[in-house]
Amino acid sequence: MKKLISLLILTLLWTSTFSQSQTSERAKWFTDARYGMFIHWGLYSAAEGYWKGEKIRNDNDYAEWIFYRNSISKEEYVTLLDRFDWDKINPEEWVILAKKAGMKYVTFTAKHHDGFALWDSQASNYDLGDFTNHKRDIVKELAEACKKHGLKLGLYYSHWVDWEHEFGWDHKKELTGITPEQYNKYWQEKVIPQMRELLTNYGEISMIWFDMWIHHSQTVVTKEQLFQLKKLIRELQPNCLINSRLGLSIDEDPDVDFKELGDNSLGDKKEDFPWQSPATVAHSWGFHATDSEWKSTTTLLKALINNVSLNGNLLLNIGPRANGDVPWEIQQRLLEMGSWLEKNGESVYGAGAFDLPKNQHDWGKITCKKVGEKTTLYYHVFNWPLNKKLFVTGISSKPGKIWLLSNKEKNPLKFTHKGAYTEIELPDEQPDPFVSVIAAEYDLIPEISAGLVAKTKSGGYSFLPGNQITPAHSQFIVKKEKYGTIPEYLLVEKPETFTWKIFVDTPGKKHFDMSFSYQNESSNAAEIILQAAGSEISTLAKPTGKTVGEPNENWVIDNFASQRIGEINFSETGFYEIKMQIIPSANNILKFQWIWAE
Ligand code: GLC
Repeated sequence: MKKLISLLILTLLWTSTFSQSQTSERAKWFTDARYGMFIHWGLYSAAEGYWKGEKIRNDNDYAEWIFYRNSISKEEYVTLLDRFDWDKINPEEWVILAKKAGMKYVTFTAKHHDGFALWDSQASNYDLGDFTNHKRDIVKELAEACKKHGLKLGLYYSHWVDWEHEFGWDHKKELTGITPEQYNKYWQEKVIPQMRELLTNYGEISMIWFDMWIHHSQTVVTKEQLFQLKKLIRELQPNCLINSRLGLSIDEDPDVDFKELGDNSLGDKKEDFPWQSPATVAHSWGFHATDSEWKSTTTLLKALINNVSLNGNLLLNIGPRANGDVPWEIQQRLLEMGSWLEKNGESVYGAGAFDLPKNQHDWGKITCKKVGEKTTLYYHVFNWPLNKKLFVTGISSKPGKIWLLSNKEKNPLKFTHKGAYTEIELPDEQPDPFVSVIAAEYDLIPEISAGLVAKTKSGGYSFLPGNQITPAHSQFIVKKEKYGTIPEYLLVEKPETFTWKIFVDTPGKKHFDMSFSYQNESSNAAEIILQAAGSEISTLAKPTGKTVGEPNENWVIDNFASQRIGEINFSETGFYEIKMQIIPSANNILKFQWIWAE
């Protein structure tokens, strides 16, 4: 019986700790895959962000918006087709690149907002079939290439916005208006039949990627139209995933398969419901001749790891040129990511979040995976510690074995484990130029010791208003101002107590410093009392004065400075509570920023 109960507890622990519990059967492949390729390619690719010498209007510089932004007529827009090099264009190459990049699925803009279908559509005469002599059907070519190379195919379809159809939505219609009947005509004669074509003629379609980034109630599209569309997809391809930009909220329709975050927004909280960030390598989605904000390979890898560490996916975009070429800057980064994934992919594919706070460690991010009976945690070291030691705080189970993930022989790394703390001896040199991964294998599920402030890379502890055990409701954090010249702080107007918890792995003395701003010039200073390990230290906060935020801009701000509170001896290895009281003098406030112990 006892065994049964512990098994039950273990199972419960398992579900709350690792599995992405709100993933439908249909979406399992998706949460396993974690990494896909977005392809923005269409007539706009040939404009390259410029029309008749003028750069695309609007600072957001999304090259695929040129039709609308630069007020191009539908007839002139299709002349862009003359610039395409059909002999050279080979969508299979994009799929091969995706494969080399370690991506598991491809999402292609079958019809973007410009309304031009990149297949031979019978439901519209604004499509490739009607405008090229080459009889090319890019959706078909991609579907075949994906099948050949073992990738899933998703299709982007702009349902809400369509700039070419008389009754499709373009934002100018906010001025002219459109009747529900007119919009429904567009819907029934273009959207529904085109979706039917896409879901019937190309074999398995694994995902339809809609792009209505606001809720339908703010648009011309009705809930009924969206349900009609969804029903069609479920009927024709029951396994096809639908993203949340369909426009129905998850409350209205829990049957949507995954949440799509905003453009280039990475995840910032762990979620059990599947989700994804669409992201660009530079800025624009469609090819843009003068886009140059290339994110580095490391930045992109960190984006992927960040998302996986919170149960999310990354859909990374390429914007090929009108001759099919993928800009070298994109290729290079994708290939580098691919070779990283070849060595370290185990920490990404089929992996997900572990239940420690997302910013627990200052050295990087953790992902987690169950392999057979064992569980492996993957420590992604973004910053290789100068002291060549990795400090892991908050896991009370002892790992069985630790190794460098890219090391095929799994040569063990030395480590010590005490209480809720593991210290790993790292190789002298950072093994990977981008992100090095340390794998730690545990029997069963590693147990967590919650609420601990982690030991930082340099060995100190950073106590913040945000990492207290249970902050009081009355505590009010003031966000940073003036571009961070005034840092984030907690306003203390009356006596306030703060509590943190740490695990001390090496007994000894630690000194405590506090950073704050205190503007009282009189001797009536605020009192700071700190208690830990049975001792109490206290000090009077000295005024911190003013400082100049920016030279010559008359930008004078309250200064934040740190002051030593004193020293406390932690005589034994173990858990300690750190309690601090701030007692400001009457009618005075103290702005508390942080405490540092070392
Ligand atoms: C936005 C843009 C669109 C782009 C998409 C990618 O919705 O309108 O051009 O395709 O983001 O996420």
